[in-house]
Amino acid sequence: MSHIGSYDERYKNFNWTIAEKELDYGNNSIYNIGYYCSDRICEKGLGNRRALIWQGFTGEVRTFTYNDIRIYSNCFATFLKEVGVRAQERVCIFMDRIPELYISFLGILKMGCIAQPLFSAFGEEALLTRLDDAKTRAILTTKKHIHKIRRLRAQLPELTKVIVVDAGDKPLENDEIAFDMDNVPNVDHFDIFKANRDVPSVLHYTSGTTGKPKGALHVHSSIIAQYITTKWVLDLTADDIYWCTADPGWVTGTSYGIIGPWSNGITQAVYDIGFNAQKWYAFIEKHKITVWYSAPTAIRLLMKEGTELVQKFDLSSLRHLISVGEPLNAEAVLWSEQAFGKPFHDSYWQTETGSIVITNYPGMKIKPGSMGKPFPGIIATVLDQQTFEPIRKPGSVGLIALKPGWPSMFRTYWNNKEIYDSKFKNDWYICGDRSSIDDEGYFWFVGRDDDVINTAGHLVGPFEIESALLEHEAVAESAAVGKPDPINLEVVKAFIALKPGYEPSDDLMINIMNFVRKKLSPLAMPQEIEFVDSLPKTRSGKIMRRLLRAQEWGEDIGDTSTLEND
Ligand code: PRX
Repeated sequence: MSHIGSYDERYKNFNWTIAEKELDYGNNSIYNIGYYCSDRICEKGLGNRRALIWQGFTGEVRTFTYNDIRIYSNCFATFLKEVGVRAQERVCIFMDRIPELYISFLGILKMGCIAQPLFSAFGEEALLTRLDDAKTRAILTTKKHIHKIRRLRAQLPELTKVIVVDAGDKPLENDEIAFDMDNVPNVDHFDIFKANRDVPSVLHYTSGTTGKPKGALHVHSSIIAQYITTKWVLDLTADDIYWCTADPGWVTGTSYGIIGPWSNGITQAVYDIGFNAQKWYAFIEKHKITVWYSAPTAIRLLMKEGTELVQKFDLSSLRHLISVGEPLNAEAVLWSEQAFGKPFHDSYWQTETGSIVITNYPGMKIKPGSMGKPFPGIIATVLDQQTFEPIRKPGSVGLIALKPGWPSMFRTYWNNKEIYDSKFKNDWYICGDRSSIDDEGYFWFVGRDDDVINTAGHLVGPFEIESALLEHEAVAESAAVGKPDPINLEVVKAFIALKPGYEPSDDLMINIMNFVRKKLSPLAMPQEIEFVDSLPKTRSGKIMRRLLRAQEWGEDIGDTSTLEND
C-alpha cells in the first residue's frame, strides 16, 4: 500500500481545496506557477535541495538547486522585461532538453507571459503554423535550431524577439539577441507578475481530425491539479529522484516534467537523449531514479531488448513506474513486473485536461490492460454516441466524458472558441476517446473517436500531413491514416494519387517521405506510401479517410453511406 492512502477513501472525501491548502495556493494573493515552482520551495527552507539533475547526450551532468532555478528564472524574466516583451504575450520555447528549457519556462510565467513550448524536432511548416496562429512575440532557441526560424521571420511580423540562449561567440543575424543565463548578474528578486487564477499560463498545440493544430490554453490555477496528481499518482515524496522521459514540447513534459515535480519540491532528473535502452538503464542506475514516468512505446522497445539487458544494471532504486500517452497493453504490465519487479501503472489524460484524469492509482488493484479509475475530484463516465447520456451497463463502449470543473482543464482553443464549444455535450466535456467501464468502475480504453494518429504516444493530425503532402509537386490528392504498428501503436501511412506526368517509384516515395519529415517532423513522416489511381470519396467529394483506416486495421466498416458526413 502506498503512503498516500486508499483510493476509495480519497475519492469519497476529496475536494480541490484539499490540494489548494497543501500548496497554500493564493496565500498573499499569489497565484503564479513560477512562484510555486521555485520561490515557495526556497521559502520553505529547501533552497539547497536539488531541483534538477540534468544529463546531456554526451554524458555531461549539471545540477541545479531550487535556489538556482529561482535565481535563473528571475534572470530570464528580467531579461524578457528589459527587451520589451509584455505580460500575456506568447513566448515560445524551441530547444532540446537543455536546462534553459526548464528554467526559462518558469521565467516566462514569472514575467506573466504565456509559455508556448514547441517540440524541437518540428520542421518549418509545423513551426510556422503554430507561431502564426499564436501571434507569438518572442522565441527562445539555440544555435542548432535558429536556421528554421531565420527562414520564417519574413512571414511572422509579430515575432520581433528572437533570443538565442547559447550563442557564445557565434555571430547572430540582424536583430537576434543573445542571452546566456550563466553569464548575467544574479537577479535575487523579481517582481513576479500578479496573475490571478484564471490568467493564461501555457499554450500547448495539439492536433485534431480537421483543420490546423489547435492551441489548448491553460491558466495559472492548473497547478492545483498538477501538484496533487503528481503527489498522489506519481507518488512522489521528498526523498525521490524522479525521471519523466517526456519532452516539454508536449504536455506531459510540462505538467509532469516541470510544474508537477517542482511544485512538490522534488528532485527530478532529465536526460537529453532519445530512446536508448542501454543508456536509459545506465541513467537510472547512475542517478538512482526511484519514480519513472514513461510511455508504452518505450516499454515495448525495452521489452524487445529483453530482460537480460535489465539484469546487467542495478535498477533496485526503482520504486514506482507510471505510463501515459497510449494504451498500456497487458503484456507490457506483466513484462515490467517480471523485469523490474514492479508493474507500470497506467495514467490517462490529454493536452486539454492538463493533468491525469483516469489512472491506476497506487495501492489500487491493477487490472493489466485497464487504465484504472478516475482521480479523486474527477467525475468521469462513458456516454452513448447518439444521445450523449451516460451508459450504465458495465462493459458497453461509449465516449469518455468528464464533468468540467477540475482546475487544470483548458479554458479554450486559441482563436477557436467554436471548436472548443463543440467539445461539450449535455454539460460533459467529450475527450474524443472510446472506452468501456467494468462493474468495478475500471476504464478499458478502446480507441480514438476521430482520425487523429497516435504514433509512439504523440498525436499527429491527418489534415496537417495531407496539407504538407499537397505541397509536393507530384501529389494530386492524398489521405493520411494510422496503420497498426507493433512498437509505435500506429505509424502514418499515406495514400497518394499522383499528378499527370508522375510515375510511382521508390525514389519518389523516399523523396515525398523526406519532404514531410523536413516540413513537419519525423513523427509526421509517412512510414509507408501507397500510390493509388484515385481515393475513395463521398458524394460531396470528401475523401473517405475512415474507409482507408479501417482497411489498414482489418476492420469491417459496414455500410459506407454512414461515412457521408465524416
Ligand atoms: O487518445 C488518448 C491518448 O492520447 C490522447 C491525448 O494525447 P495528448 O493530448 O497528446 O496528450 C498526451 C499525454 C497526456 C488521448 O486522447 N492517451 C493518453 N493516455 C492514454 C491514451 N490512450 C490510452 N491509454 C492511455 N493511458
